[in-house]
Amino acid sequence: MKRALTALTIALSLTLPLSAFAKNNVVVVATGGTIAGAGANSTNSATYTAAKVPVDALINAVPQVQELANVRGVQALQIASESITDKELLNLARQVNDLAKKPDVNGIVITHGTDTLEETAFFLNLVVHTDKPIVVVGSMRPGTALSADGPLNLYSAVALAAAESAKGKGVMVLMNDSIFAARDVTKTINVHTNAFASQWGELGSVVEAKPYWFRSSVKRFNNNSEFNIESIKGDTLPLVGIVYGSDNMLPQSYLALQQAGAKAIIHAGTGNGSVANYIVPTLTKLQAEGVQIVRASRVPQGLVLRNAEQPDDKYGWVVAHDLNPQKARLLTALALTKTKDAKEIQRMFYEY
Ligand code: DGL
Repeated sequence: MKRALTALTIALSLTLPLSAFAKNNVVVVATGGTIAGAGANSTNSATYTAAKVPVDALINAVPQVQELANVRGVQALQIASESITDKELLNLARQVNDLAKKPDVNGIVITHGTDTLEETAFFLNLVVHTDKPIVVVGSMRPGTALSADGPLNLYSAVALAAAESAKGKGVMVLMNDSIFAARDVTKTINVHTNAFASQWGELGSVVEAKPYWFRSSVKRFNNNSEFNIESIKGDTLPLVGIVYGSDNMLPQSYLALQQAGAKAIIHAGTGNGSVANYIVPTLTKLQAEGVQIVRASRVPQGLVLRNAEQPDDKYGWVVAHDLNPQKARLLTALALTKTKDAKEIQRMFYEY
């Protein structure tokens, strides 16, 4: 009997594809958003309620993912992503970090609302120490809509998280078949499925569950980061606010943030991070009073050049380089957990 069983096992192992035995384990961490949304009817592609469908229903709606990996779900949050605060972000990072340390977890997918998806992906890129694939994925249409994009986005995200080639690439965003680097992807269209883009290009693409790579990020991330979620205590980060640049600015917009306890202010300036001449005195005063000023830009592409529009060296200001204001806010908050030195903070903007 034992001999027969051994023979059968050998025969089976010779006939079944290796993948049947060697599937990676992928955990889907759900946080809400449109990918978990539901509309009143199939023609509601933009009118729906986000954060309704639980993680197991999301996974069961795409049974094909089980052919790619052993997939299980964790419900971390169930909210629209515009409502995520530093508290949720820190706790999500701790959960992802704990999962990444488990030897039986090979990859992680995070389903997330697209509004602040780029912030969450960037934050995890900076504070989670692992080389396992972490893939943040969302959708622009709810699963109830005609041509919903969520199911295929989830399928491709699981394929990416299960791929050996995706190790050590940094936190990735998978949307609309494209693989983006967390540090430079941003939401550029608020109603179409090709909503995300990076001015420096995609890392690659996933087609029929296979990732195709075309470049890697040269920036610091994950294991190469000086930031670590394990050394950040509590559920708040140093308060950093953003003021959007326009004509007819008000000094009170900045003073209100100082009043609220901001340790730094991101000036999302016009053009190359320009500052109106009647605002400069307010910013130099804030800097002198210990509120770090960071010049970013409201313009979606390009980079803010140090000492170009303003004498940053003279004022002790930092420039956000190519990071958009919302990502500059997160990097500045993390930087302030380590230093108040403007030169050190500027180094971090050039390295991450
Ligand atoms: N409320 C938005 C969010 O949760 C919906 C957008 C989306 O997820 O695509 O980010």
